[in-house]
Amino acid sequence: MSPCCWLALLALVSPTLATNPGVKLKLTEKAIEYGKQIGIATLQQKLKTIQIPDIAGTEKVSPIGKVKYSLTEMKIVNLGLPKSDLTLVPGTGISLSITNAFINLHGNWRVRYLHVMFMLFSLGLTVTDSLSILSDETGRPTVRGVNCEAIVGSASVKFHGGASWLYNLFSSFIDKALRSAMQKQICPLVADAINDMNQHLKTLNVLAKVDNHAEIEYSMVTPPSISKSSIDLNLKGEFYNIGKHQEPPFSPTPFSLPPQINNMLYIGVSAFTANTAGFVYNNAGVLGLRITDDMIPPSSPIRLNTRTLGTFVPEISKRFPGLMVELLVQTVKEPTISFQPNNVTVQASCTMTAYAVQTNSTLTPLFILNMEGSVSARLFVAGVMLAGAITLNKFEITLGTSYVGPFQVQSLDNIFRIVLKDVVIPQINVRLEKGFPLPTIGKMELINTELQVLKGYMLIGTDVKFT
Ligand SMILES: *[C@@H]1O[C@H](CO)[C@@H](O)[C@H](O)[C@H]1NC(C)=O
Ligand SMILES: *[C@@H]1O[C@H](CO)[C@@H](O)[C@H](O)[C@H]1NC(C)=O
Repeated sequence: MSPCCWLALLALVSPTLATNPGVKLKLTEKAIEYGKQIGIATLQQKLKTIQIPDIAGTEKVSPIGKVKYSLTEMKIVNLGLPKSDLTLVPGTGISLSITNAFINLHGNWRVRYLHVMFMLFSLGLTVTDSLSILSDETGRPTVRGVNCEAIVGSASVKFHGGASWLYNLFSSFIDKALRSAMQKQICPLVADAINDMNQHLKTLNVLAKVDNHAEIEYSMVTPPSISKSSIDLNLKGEFYNIGKHQEPPFSPTPFSLPPQINNMLYIGVSAFTANTAGFVYNNAGVLGLRITDDMIPPSSPIRLNTRTLGTFVPEISKRFPGLMVELLVQTVKEPTISFQPNNVTVQASCTMTAYAVQTNSTLTPLFILNMEGSVSARLFVAGVMLAGAITLNKFEITLGTSYVGPFQVQSLDNIFRIVLKDVVIPQINVRLEKGFPLPTIGKMELINTELQVLKGYMLIGTDVKFT
């Protein structure tokens, strides 16, 4: 097949292949600052591992003539990066700049026929690199150093013992040898530190398991975008049935995060993402609930039996005297979730089937009701999970099918209000309270977390701590 046919086919099978994200992440300067602290500490550890080989040579120095010398047991005793910067370069990446760094070494200097002297060297260091942030093949962010330069300044020396005049005869050779030995090790160590960071970024849960039915895809749908003050990532943010990635009949609406900067990280979760959850659970056939009398709180004024229903529909107690009743609530399509400022509303269409439970356990249907309900949701962040709780707004029931003759459905409103409030909603809340995984990296803790509901999405502002 030619490439154009493949593309056409791809467009057919994936209507949401368009790059609108369901979830957006914004890393602010505060996050870059925190990342810098971790990154520079890592780099400092790496640079301390610089190995300085023994240096030996023969130099002709006047007025002595040819003299053999060596430097041995060179060790880094201190290395400081007091001035290091990570700055965002819009459209490009991050620029790393380390200036005024210093490396202190000690070692033994030996000149033939002369005594060994203990030396302390101090060298200045400048490192610059341009880091670009890309999306790897799994849709995770990855950092690449593209332009590392390291300059080791000339060595100044402290003697323990005299003979500085003697050393000075060799200083330029030693200086050159030391600098070149060290200089070539620095950029590979910077690359090593970047690699460590990438190992960390690889832990982004691009496929976050939710439960036995669902997982959320958090891979990036576009390359990261870098502005003067933030790094923005567009993530898919889509629920899928585990192992069966079927696209829903709706797609993400573009949205943009407000320019907030107080927290390190802002996570925007769109109504699209929430709605894919409804789509997935509805497809999995798990948005249903069987309600039996023992689920109704003992204090409740109603019981699920033919006597209670018989007060409203006398035919029921007449034909099925003294039996228990069971209800089956099922969604008929995926619920619709909408985000308005400070308002999360879920609309659901369900059927509710009532059965009489015969003494031999056979279920005999009494009637089927259609129910349109709306609930309000309160969302919150618990750990690294997004959780929620719903309360009933309103519902409307109409008669679908009756097996017990015609009756006034509205007379059952109160019974079903109690069933919804006391049984169905608490059950849903048990699930919602467990929460859904947010995009995370490694062992990440969210602190100072706030959640706002805005038009079309919710915004989580949070600081992050890696443990
Ligand atoms: C919340 O939004 C829904 C529709 O999205 C609306 O019907 C309802 O009145 C709103 N509630 C409040 C308290 O504004
Ligand atoms: C169970 O009992 C009902 C009512 O008495 C009867 O109609 C039905 O055939 C019985 N079913 C079985 C499997 O025995």
